[in-house]
This record gives sequence, structure tokens and C-alpha cells, in this order.
Amino acid sequence: MQKENITLTMIKPGAVKKNHIGPILGIINENGFIIKAMKLTQLTVEQAKKFYAVHQGKPFFNDLITFMSSGPIVAAVLQKENAVKEFRDLIGATDPDNAKDGTIRKLFAESLSKNAIHGSDSNENAEIESSFFFSQLEQF
Ligand code: GTP
Ligand code: MG
Repeated sequence: MQKENITLTMIKPGAVKKNHIGPILGIINENGFIIKAMKLTQLTVEQAKKFYAVHQGKPFFNDLITFMSSGPIVAAVLQKENAVKEFRDLIGATDPDNAKDGTIRKLFAESLSKNAIHGSDSNENAEIESSFFFSQLEQF
């Protein structure tokens, strides 16, 4: 699997609680992303802190960790040419108030803190984050 063509997503606890897994995966597929690995799981507080370590010390960090460990998530590795940028475009701006019409966050986010979905922000992080959830990705 070409690493520059993958990204890691999480459908966040709020969107899972509201039963939006199906519609969100449908949009992801309609936009040409192929699901290479996927699991329904829940982050512990420690795992959420590790995943979002780059934000440690920021004022929103504790709320972010509490939210991300509050319930089930769907983690998935997605493949498409130029996956990281294409997927960030599809999910929309971090704050749903600034997200374009038709983006996943515009459609499903409840707020800046509960913004429905994660997407990796670089090829390097896509690889690190994919390894966080899945092993032996080379086999796909
Ligand atoms: P992720 O895909 O979840 O990584 O979001 P992002 O890459 O669009 O944003 P970023 O990595 O900068 O921040 C991670 C998460 O922290 C965001 O998705 C928001 O839910 C939350 N967050 C970021 N900035 C703020 C902020 O200024 N205030 C609050 N309350 N939450 C924030
Ligand atoms: Mg981010």
C-alpha cells in the first residue's frame, strides 16, 4: 500500500451516538475512498492523550480527551490518490460554522468540540495514526 495515498479517520463519539456511521461511510465511499481497514472501538483516556499528544497544554485539551474517550468510535484507514488532502477537503473546516456546504462536518458536527470526524493532517501522521489502530497494514 502506498503510504502517500492513505489517511486515517475516526468517526467521533458524538456521530456514533447519533447513529451517523452509515451515512458518513456512504459519503466516504461515494467520494472514491476505499476502506482498507476498519474497527469499532473505544479509546481509553490514556490512548486519547497519546493520539492527541500534539495538543497537550492547550486550553481545550482536557475537554478533547474527555470527549474522545466518552464512547465508541469507528477508526478506518482510507485509500485514495492524494488521500490526506482529499479527505481534509471532504470533512471540512475544524469549526463546523466555517465548514463548506456538503462537507461531513457541515452535515454532522454538533460543535467545534464535537465535530463528528477526524482526518490525518499529513502523510507522516497518516502512517503513525494508522499504526496506532492497525498492525500489518502491508498485507492490504
Ligand atoms: P482532528 O481531525 O480531530 O485532528 O481535528 P483538526 O485537525 O481539524 O483540528 P486540530 O487537530 O487542530 O484539533 C483537534 C480537535 O480539537 C478539533 O477537532 C476540535 O474538536 C478541537 N479543537 C481544536 N481547536 C479548538 C479550540 O480552539 N477550541 C475548542 N473547544 N476545541 C478545539
Ligand atoms: Mg488534527
